[in-house]
Amino acid sequence: MSELILGKAISESIYTELRERIESLKSKGITPGLAVVLVGSDPASEVYVRMKGKKCEELGMHSVTMTLPENTTEEELLKKVEELNNDKSVHGFLVQLPLPPHIDEKKVIYAIDPKKDVDCFHPVNVGKMLIGEPEFLPATPAGVQQMLVRSGTETKGKHVVVVGRSNIVGKPMAAMMMQKGDGADSTVTVVHSRTKDLPSITRLADILIVAMGKPNFVTADMVKEGAVVIDVGTNRIDDPVKGSKLVGDVDFEGVKSKVSAISPVPGGVGPMTICMLMANTVAAAEKARVSR
Ligand code: GUN
Repeated sequence: MSELILGKAISESIYTELRERIESLKSKGITPGLAVVLVGSDPASEVYVRMKGKKCEELGMHSVTMTLPENTTEEELLKKVEELNNDKSVHGFLVQLPLPPHIDEKKVIYAIDPKKDVDCFHPVNVGKMLIGEPEFLPATPAGVQQMLVRSGTETKGKHVVVVGRSNIVGKPMAAMMMQKGDGADSTVTVVHSRTKDLPSITRLADILIVAMGKPNFVTADMVKEGAVVIDVGTNRIDDPVKGSKLVGDVDFEGVKSKVSAISPVPGGVGPMTICMLMANTVAAAEKARVSR
């Protein structure tokens, strides 16, 4: 029987640690603060933004949610970013993506003070992460790494195959797993939509991390016996009974009996992203105390 790696339980243990750090900061007069900027009314973004605000409140953190209309200009948004860069009560903030098409996302990300960039999307922070001197770690890959560490999965010297090459998951995930240190020290291969004979490479993985965005893409024949599989996919597909349902990038039912451990969807990586965002915000508040 394979082990289930459950982000819900793992995130709870991280929140317990964060609560202690938040209390310690508060005893020194500092309340960690996270601001989230939402432009327009994309329904999925609205849900994410609400979840982030709710989690801040649960943890006793300072939370600012800034909702701007769809027709906000790039200049107006850049002004808001500058205000948040200068707001001492906000230790970290993010602008929820995607932005409306008339706004250049890159320009907005570049305008964020890297010391407050808790998404770790600013190129300065991506570069620091790559050279092994991270200011922050991007939330979803950091969550996957914590799932490996806290499930007791050995990563040192193991072959990690990352499926997918996005800037948000695949690329930083690969960079993190090849760093020196605990939860890393892996031999890393990245495969993607243009890879020739992709299954011949995924079959070599001791640890398979899948972030392709294709429902049930990884089937049992693509996985080595005894591998550890982390499924980052979240795809909503039609369901004859429920109307629709959430599935990962891995055919969970087909793969689960072949592997030593696997994360399901939902209940796997999902809860980890907001958890690591909160961890980055607490870390930003701790650093601001010593350097600002
Ligand atoms: N949209 C979907 N996920 C994210 C995220 O992690 N950060 C931001 N800023 N936008 C997103």
